[in-house]
Amino acid sequence: MSIRASILGAMVAVLIAPSLLSAQDKGLASTPPMGWNSWNKFGCNVGEDMIRQMADGMVKSGMREVGYQYIVIDDCWQVERDQSGNIVADAKRFPAGIKALADYVHSRGLKFGIYSDAGYKTCAKRPGSLGHEYQDALQYAAWGVDYLKYDWCNTTTQDAQAAYALIRNALNASGRSIVLSICEWGTAKPWLWGEKVGGNLWRTTGDISDMWQGKDKHHLGVVDILDLQDGLQSYAGPGHWNDPDMLEVGNGGMTTDEYRAHFSLWSILAAPLLAGNDLRDMKPEIHDILTNKEVIAVNQDALGRQGRRVRKDGDLEVWAKQMQDGSRSVVLLNRDVSEKEIAVSWEDIGYPSHLSASVRDLWHAKDLGQHQEKFSASVAPHSVVMVKIAP
Ligand code: GLA
Repeated sequence: MSIRASILGAMVAVLIAPSLLSAQDKGLASTPPMGWNSWNKFGCNVGEDMIRQMADGMVKSGMREVGYQYIVIDDCWQVERDQSGNIVADAKRFPAGIKALADYVHSRGLKFGIYSDAGYKTCAKRPGSLGHEYQDALQYAAWGVDYLKYDWCNTTTQDAQAAYALIRNALNASGRSIVLSICEWGTAKPWLWGEKVGGNLWRTTGDISDMWQGKDKHHLGVVDILDLQDGLQSYAGPGHWNDPDMLEVGNGGMTTDEYRAHFSLWSILAAPLLAGNDLRDMKPEIHDILTNKEVIAVNQDALGRQGRRVRKDGDLEVWAKQMQDGSRSVVLLNRDVSEKEIAVSWEDIGYPSHLSASVRDLWHAKDLGQHQEKFSASVAPHSVVMVKIAP
């Protein structure tokens, strides 16, 4: 390259760079994203009718009204690339095409998300985006995609930070505001670089399973995932969140108490709240968990703090989150198999002992009066009591 050409190149880069940067919407995911994703319940069994019905379900159930926004199709919507390298959706399952589906989701007042992978194939062996990052980003933007979950299967020797920076740049260059969900399972510690590369959320662990406890290869139960979140709180904030994986609430493998605990913990962790159940067919108790406004308000608090474990006595734990109004949200978690008394002291949550504070039970929407020094409650097995403590 001649000196003139390289100077010209540098000038072009300087001119383009700020516009690419400004294309990334700074207001994106200012609170943890809320929505629904197909994977936990449906796996590869996705199709346009079902996705439309989920959008309808999100509206009809009142979930949209309490803040759920994104309808995300996970793996298996794509089958091949055409001769020009364009990604091709499964025409049997999505006969009207992805654009029409995105339009439908938008017509219901919701946003539309899709899935790809940084490697040459997705985890379900569909074509990945490797080498097609800009082409795919342009296609997503043309379809009206608002959210991209970007997985990490079949990436061989790729560098995670570079791969996610590349797709973020490609999304920015498309000119559309698109949330980037980094799905790298925590292997390369994405909390250390996720914000820098423009990720809006990043998985911190392997996949969740519809179970309270247990580890099997890549799959973890709710409390096993929970244990891996403590210590990561300083990395989360408006626009960039730790993601302990999607919700299993309502998928049948846990008790109602366990699902309520799962939802309470994800809320106090300021985790993305992506429902993973069948929204067409929800039992009333599942609907009540997913739509509890006071619990969701803890998750969506504008300060954007992630809660942390402030006390652990064996199976009895206290998790606390500072709220924008100075109050604290608190989860008393009983991991034991019998009912237990759990206390949170004001010292645990950074209040002076003599302070008189009001306590409100969030699941029962009930004021529990003024307390000093501490608050304690009896907590059922594998269950929580969730309160807001306000001076
Ligand atoms: C990985 C991800 C899951 C899901 C599947 C799809 O396991 O971690 O969340 O997207 O791939 O194949």
